[in-house]
Amino acid sequence: MDFLDAWIAPPRADHVLIAKYFIIIVSTFFIPYISIQFGSTLFALGFSFRGKREENPLFWKFGQDIAETLLGGAATAFFLGILPVLTFAVSFGQILYGTEFNVGGAYLFTLVSLVLALFATQLFKKSFQKRDTAFTTHLFWGVAALLLQHLAIYGFVSSMSVVLFPEEWLFLKYPIVHPFDWNVVARLGMFMNRALAITGLAIIFFFFRWMGGKSDMDERYRDYVKKFGGGVALGFTMAQTLFMIWYLATLPIVAKATQVYMMGVINVIVLLIVAYTLYFFLADSRLKLATHASVLFLVFLFLFEANDHYARENALQYQNYELAKIDEEIRLEIEKQRMLSGGGEEASAALGEQIFNQKCSACHRFEQKLVGPAYLDVLPKYQGDIEKLSQFILNPVKVNPNLPMMPNQGLKPVEAKSAAMFLLKRYEELTQQQ
Ligand code: HEC
Repeated sequence: MDFLDAWIAPPRADHVLIAKYFIIIVSTFFIPYISIQFGSTLFALGFSFRGKREENPLFWKFGQDIAETLLGGAATAFFLGILPVLTFAVSFGQILYGTEFNVGGAYLFTLVSLVLALFATQLFKKSFQKRDTAFTTHLFWGVAALLLQHLAIYGFVSSMSVVLFPEEWLFLKYPIVHPFDWNVVARLGMFMNRALAITGLAIIFFFFRWMGGKSDMDERYRDYVKKFGGGVALGFTMAQTLFMIWYLATLPIVAKATQVYMMGVINVIVLLIVAYTLYFFLADSRLKLATHASVLFLVFLFLFEANDHYARENALQYQNYELAKIDEEIRLEIEKQRMLSGGGEEASAALGEQIFNQKCSACHRFEQKLVGPAYLDVLPKYQGDIEKLSQFILNPVKVNPNLPMMPNQGLKPVEAKSAAMFLLKRYEELTQQQ
């Protein structure tokens, strides 16, 4: 089940840090994408349904336009939907390393429901072409897509917030996290509500601004689209401020901190500015204002993610301490390995030659006695015994009573071995020449 195990190495401090920032950045892409999938499916289905029931061609067309303009294709689904969930899985795998929480299981749930949701959403989008004849199939795919999107969003929201409940890690085998925890409920509501605000903004952006805007819109239709997109965005942005307050009020104790509340207040202020801008857009329908509102909303998203990051950091205090210990242990282990094998490098005659030039040639030549004996005189007894030779180089002992003792050269084992390899190799070459 734990498909992550193979990928997750014990985390180093810098990996954990990267993982945390990755989560903020990837969320800022992933959340709008999945939000627009959900909001557009809901609105497209709604307009399709109303258009049919009221025999209203404007609604009928609007439903299809929303689906075709906003739902994107398979490639977008992969890059903005599936890939981010994989990065979340790996990132949280690092952050929650060593805890009992089954990160792999949680993200597997999100991933599977997301893949199914995106698949159903694409089929729903396709079904617009045949909705005149196969209306029931059309409705079916719309409803199926919505249900699966809910599952994926639930999986995403709960696996993102699991960090906030360290006392539960041991017990959570699946991401059916705290169905009754108010903070998770607040987050879910917030996500859905925010999704609709984002979709409202996206409707205006993609119908009017993206690549010069859509061309086949008459005056009445344009007007309706603007009012609908702007109105939806305004209403749900206002509601989002209430969700923000709910979210702050229900944060688990471990996540509470002054910073989180301060940031929360800034988030609410940004939302109010978005709402204010949208209000003026609806009043005089200058598209520029809607663009400002969209950019500001992205700022809100980013700030919110940063804030949630703070909240998680508070909750992670103990886990961070554990991770720091793991990091320290790995560092010591690596250090130990280095000491044992010297520099982490492999022993080699090439390294040995360098060492000879730097450290031995002052006292030694092969053919000639300097301070130390000529190698050709002393090496025969070491032939074929690299171990013995490197032992001597590592720890020289008194051999020849007529010579001073060789000073210890302070080499690492791998260096001594390399020097020995070089000496014996050169010795062989020299003796063969003769
Ligand atoms: C400061 C001078 C000096 C340096 C530098 C030096 N040696 Fe020596 N070396 C000696 C002397 C003196 C002896 C003789 C020691 C004895 O016979 O007790 C010796 C002996 C040896 C022997 C012969 C040991 C035996 O069993 O007779 C080898 C092999 C050797 N050195 C290798 C090296 C290597 C490899 C280096 C460089 C990493 C090195 N030495 C650096 C002075 C030096």
